[in-house]
Amino acid sequence: MVDGKVNYDDVIPNNVAISDSRKLQRAIKEWHPKFMKWWWERGPESYQHNDVYLRTAITVDASGWATYAYVRMPEYKWGIFLAPKKTETIHFGDRQGQETWESVPGEHRNDLRRLIVTQADTEPGSVEQQQLLGHSAPSLYDMRNLFQVNVEEGRHLWAMVYLLMQYFGRDGREESEGLLIRNSGDADTPRILTTFNEPIVDWLDFFCFAMFTDRDGKYQLGALAESAFAPLARTTQFMLTEEAFHLFVGETGVGRTIRRTAQLMKETPNEDVTTVDAIPLDIVQKYINYWYSVSLDLFGSEDSSNAANFFGASLKGRFGESNRKKYPDPLCRDTAYSIECLDENGRKTTTEIPMRRAMNAVLRDTYIEDTYRALRRWNKVFEKEDIQYRLQLPSDRFNRKIGLHAAHQADVEGNFLTAEEWEKRKDEWLPTPEDKAYVKTCMVPVREPGKFANWITPPYRGVSGKPIDFEYVRL
Ligand SMILES: [Fe+2]
Ligand SMILES: [Fe+2]
Repeated sequence: MVDGKVNYDDVIPNNVAISDSRKLQRAIKEWHPKFMKWWWERGPESYQHNDVYLRTAITVDASGWATYAYVRMPEYKWGIFLAPKKTETIHFGDRQGQETWESVPGEHRNDLRRLIVTQADTEPGSVEQQQLLGHSAPSLYDMRNLFQVNVEEGRHLWAMVYLLMQYFGRDGREESEGLLIRNSGDADTPRILTTFNEPIVDWLDFFCFAMFTDRDGKYQLGALAESAFAPLARTTQFMLTEEAFHLFVGETGVGRTIRRTAQLMKETPNEDVTTVDAIPLDIVQKYINYWYSVSLDLFGSEDSSNAANFFGASLKGRFGESNRKKYPDPLCRDTAYSIECLDENGRKTTTEIPMRRAMNAVLRDTYIEDTYRALRRWNKVFEKEDIQYRLQLPSDRFNRKIGLHAAHQADVEGNFLTAEEWEKRKDEWLPTPEDKAYVKTCMVPVREPGKFANWITPPYRGVSGKPIDFEYVRL
């Protein structure tokens, strides 16, 4: 407190000089209690009074961005940080070579607001989706990781809301309210993007979500980190440092699940792994098919006039845009991108899309490459355990609801299926109610430090140098 007033630099650690701006302080003062109400009601159910060994960002430099301590989640410091400025000039699109913007140009106000609100909406959405998972955590280590992801998504919401409040005036304040009103899965006020309304009911869902859906987040944030609007670029750049941990939780979570199943398959070669409470590999494969396909939908339509406008206006670039070896052409005016799809008769064909209009597909394809790298690491687990099974990623035409491939149903190899064939066969590829029910039976909570549920192996190491049997959550 300073002179009886709240010192916002203490409440909200930041490098955006909140204490210098009365306007920003007023907006935060109004929004903060609403955010806390939201957190209590829709954040992790229970455990809000428990000490959790969490990482908190205090500053953006290497020494301060990851400070570990026991914290109760509602007392976590939701900071606002902008990474240091990367570049002074715009390096792609029609404004290439001009100075980056410190405020929002009038002609791009609506588009920028839309980009920010769409990104912002995913942050609380995922916290809501994961609200109940603490109850069935397979270990204290995993429970702590879940809560770490949750508080960081809360901080990402703060990061985006800062941009809305600081740069979009009254509209921005209204949008900030809306972010706390929409609710994942709500019939009347759902989250903006459909994937953030899908239920995450068990830990295999959570790991797949963190692996595939958070990874979409990484690519969207990376594309926004190239923006000519410097505050957006710098905010998203800092969010990416935290996002890396979410992807780690997803990738290693699935990796530990399949390792355990592989071990049990070896130990009891003649038995069905469900007799020893492991998760069968074909169920894992179905979860992957599901979360991968719904995450591809998040990139939007492969042929998109919005994407062309965003790129042309230098609002949203490609992932790693400044890498001119990878992207030699910063303008993309006269080139095209080709995509394999199915024609009206269900035969494979290629379609050429003008490059700017294809930016969603370009971004998605870099995501797919990245996802394959993680998949290869999972399959190494089977090699090591001497198990023949290999996981796969389905075709990008499988189970799509948005874009070019939404017109037809396809199998996991991308071959055309009639609606009838799809109905008959979709249970081969997507989790069935029986699969979900079985996975649920495996989700027994384990609360003793260093102990893990039978369906998952312990991690190789603990958090930030702590042992695996450290008391990550004090219950
Ligand atoms: Fe996030
Ligand atoms: Fe995330």
